Amino acid sequence: MSNTPEQQKKKIILSGIQPTGIFTLGNYLGAIKNWVTLQEEYNCCYMIADLHAITVRQETAALRSGILDAAALVLACGVDPEKSLVFLQSGVHTHAELSWILSCYTQFGELSRMTQFKDKSARHADNVNAGLFTYPVLMAADILVYQADLVPVGADQKQHLELARNIAERFNAVHGNTFTVPEPYIPKAGARIMSLADPTKKMSKSDTNVNGFISILDDKDTIIRKFRRAVTDSDACVRYGEGKDGINNLLTIYSTVTGKTIAEAEAEFDGKGYGDFKTAVGEAVADHLAPVRDNFSRIRADKDALLAITSSGAEKALSITERTMRKVYKKVGFIR
Ligand code: TYM
Repeated sequence: MSNTPEQQKKKIILSGIQPTGIFTLGNYLGAIKNWVTLQEEYNCCYMIADLHAITVRQETAALRSGILDAAALVLACGVDPEKSLVFLQSGVHTHAELSWILSCYTQFGELSRMTQFKDKSARHADNVNAGLFTYPVLMAADILVYQADLVPVGADQKQHLELARNIAERFNAVHGNTFTVPEPYIPKAGARIMSLADPTKKMSKSDTNVNGFISILDDKDTIIRKFRRAVTDSDACVRYGEGKDGINNLLTIYSTVTGKTIAEAEAEFDGKGYGDFKTAVGEAVADHLAPVRDNFSRIRADKDALLAITSSGAEKALSITERTMRKVYKKVGFIR
């Protein structure tokens, strides 16, 4: 990302993903697919959220290789380091620095209301650490330190985004205009891809049932098999509607990967059984993801090239974010 006057005027995008396992179809359709599209029009900063990952206990070697996998996956999905910054969060120290300051502008009650905190503390009852609680403050810092205008995420991050906006507004109200108040960019379709095994639950890579999620590196046979096993209903009618969570999810997936509308998809499968429909969804998803798998093995194999991309991204990210930090320190009253 160079700094021509034209690029300086472009809006800024920031988003991140945790390096805790191979991304799912939910991560891809809810976020990364849009990261790729948005980079054509905006100044985009995409990070591997490794600082966030340790709010849940991680095995050191697994995290190290997961971070490289995640960086390679982002590139394999089509994020172009010539157009966007790609970096590791822990490599840009201003995130953690701003996080401390913002934590002094965030209320205990606000953090207690975060549904993801409630869910995760119930799931990891033996490790309800302070980082898990203050996680959304770090996320606000990630966004605000870039003065981001837009944040492309899936629907599950909406509450965290609202908190980031509140923190920015509060800081601005106390100290005068300092932070851009970011807008969420949540796709109309694909913002909440559901589990194939239980379509009332979000698709998640931490699901213990591997049939519940599609990993974006699953091979074609596995993808088709998982879709064929997807939980649906006894209606045997491919129509979007109430009480048809499984079919709604499959129709959403099909329409997002093929570019067809839901109505076009319904018409295509009119009079056909669920078996045919599920196979077609599996095939469409597998074809869509095939290039990601090919790119991934090539990109992941060259660790030096991968690290060169993330270090160069981190260097540029640091210089952008230090501008914000200078402003913040001055407003708060620190002496440099
Ligand atoms: P993470 O790593 O859980 O997920 C990465 C992105 O994938 C989206 N997503 C989904 N979208 C649709 N359907 C699903 N089933 C699904 N599952 C996940 C998420 O909404 C997200 O956009 N806290 C963030 C990472 C983060 C971040 C940030 C994001 C850290 N700092 C700053 C934006 C801005 C997280 O844990 O995402």
